[in-house]
Amino acid sequence: MVIRSCNLETVCGPTSTLPKNDLPEVAFAGKSNVGKSSLINAVMNRKSLARVSAQPGKTQTINFYNINDEIYVVDLPGYGFAKASEKERERWGKMIETYLNTSDMIRAVFLLVDIRHAPSANDKQMFEWMDYVGYDPIVIATKADKIKRSQLDKQIKILREGLGATKDTIIVPFSSQTKQGLDTIQDFLAQVIEN
Ligand code: GTP
Ligand code: MG
Repeated sequence: MVIRSCNLETVCGPTSTLPKNDLPEVAFAGKSNVGKSSLINAVMNRKSLARVSAQPGKTQTINFYNINDEIYVVDLPGYGFAKASEKERERWGKMIETYLNTSDMIRAVFLLVDIRHAPSANDKQMFEWMDYVGYDPIVIATKADKIKRSQLDKQIKILREGLGATKDTIIVPFSSQTKQGLDTIQDFLAQVIEN
C-alpha cells in the first residue's frame, strides 16, 4: 500500500456527533497502552501523527485518519485504563460501543492484544462482543519484538484460547518496532479499498 496522503480528519469526544463518512473505515481497538496508535503510525508510515505515550490512556477520543482519500483508519480510545475514574471508563466504553454499533462504513475491525500476556477479561469481553455484533475481528498480537521467536506459537495459542477464538480467527503477530506483520495489515487495508 503506497501512502500518498494521510491526515487526522475528525476527532470525536464523548459529546461529539460521529461523522457520516463516505469512505470505508477500519477500526483498531484494544486495551490502553497495547500499541494502537503506534500501529496506526506504522501503517501510515509516520513517526508521530497518532500520539503515542508510555502512559496508558493517551488516546481519549475517536480519531479518524484519512489515508489517500481511500480509507479511514480509526484509532479508538483504549479500554481498561486502571487510573481512569469509573465514570470516564464508562464514557469511553460507551463511545467505542456506539461507534462500532452505528457506523455503516466499518469494513474491518481489529482487536489488539499484547502478545506477552493472556488476554484480560476486558479483551475477552470485547472480542465476544465484536463477534456478537457481527464483525469478524482480526486479532493483532502486539509488541512481538518483546518475545523470542521460539515463544511465538505458544503465545498465539494462549491468546486464541483466552479469547475463545476459533481456528478461523486470524491472529497476526505485529511489532511497530521491527514492522513484523505490517505487510499483512496493509494487505487487509488494500483489500478493503478494492472491495
Ligand atoms: P492508548 O492511546 O493509551 O489507548 O494506548 P495505545 O494503544 O495507543 O498505545 P501506544 O501506541 O501509545 O503505545 C503505548 C506504549 O507501548 C508506548 O510506550 C509505545 O512506544 C509502546 N509500544 C507500542 N507498540 C510497541 C511495539 O510493537 N513494541 C514495543 N517494544 N513497544 C511498543
Ligand atoms: Mg493511543
